[in-house]
Amino acid sequence: MIADFSCIHSIVVLTGAGISAESGLSTFRLKDGLWDNHKVEDVATPEAFRRNPDQVHKFYNARRRQLNSVVPNAAHRALARFEQHFAGNFLLVTQNVDDLHDRAGSKNLIHMHGELLQSRCTDCGIIEKIVYDLSTESVCVRCQRTGTIRPNIVWFGEIPLAMETIYDALSQCDLFVSIGTSGNVYPAAGFFQQAKMAGAQTIELNLDPSEGASSFDDCHYGLATELVPDFFQLP
Ligand code: OAD
Repeated sequence: MIADFSCIHSIVVLTGAGISAESGLSTFRLKDGLWDNHKVEDVATPEAFRRNPDQVHKFYNARRRQLNSVVPNAAHRALARFEQHFAGNFLLVTQNVDDLHDRAGSKNLIHMHGELLQSRCTDCGIIEKIVYDLSTESVCVRCQRTGTIRPNIVWFGEIPLAMETIYDALSQCDLFVSIGTSGNVYPAAGFFQQAKMAGAQTIELNLDPSEGASSFDDCHYGLATELVPDFFQLP
């Protein structure tokens, strides 16, 4: 499955939980995934945070701590290596809130659903890099208020980040590759259609067919650590 990148000028890659699965992080919807063991409405909505901030902090603190015991895998590394050597435009959009693409060395990277290693003050808006647990006792470094700090994660019902930049890139790309995502959550699940409208070739690399699989131009199924290094090779 060696792709011919010689006529490709602009690539958008979308990744989901499947790319981090072989690093040891749970997906959301596979058997025993995060949404099997937690209710979305208890931990991943603004209402949940208002109702029970301790429970929401506990969920994201546990996931943040888990980052200490995982490392980027061959798929994360292959994307970073490809970006470094590709002469055209390359944008990596991830739905993942882990930092594995960052640690692998990806540069033009958007975390559209936020980042576990960031907090945001709901009062003054400051975004801070964090490695520690958050709680209702956390104090904002800028406005000094207590109880206003939340994980900088996009919850259900909120607008994903950097959408203008993403749609711009989709409207100009000639190749769109979706990796390790089930295609259940919009707007990310609709990106391939935007890319298609722009005339791009659309490719899915995943363990199982996603919701939109039949509309992609080409699909390859297997493990991300095998498919991604195989696909993203330059001569
Ligand atoms: P899902 O859990 O919905 O889907 C994970 C996908 O990865 C599935 O299609 C699997 O087949 C595939 N997969 C699993 N292991 C893989 C492997 N080793 N190699 C390749 N593919 C593999 O996760 P997402 O699609 O990322 O949003 O979920 C999208 C959003 O839903 C998340 O960002 C999160 C969640 O609710 C928010 O929390 C806002």
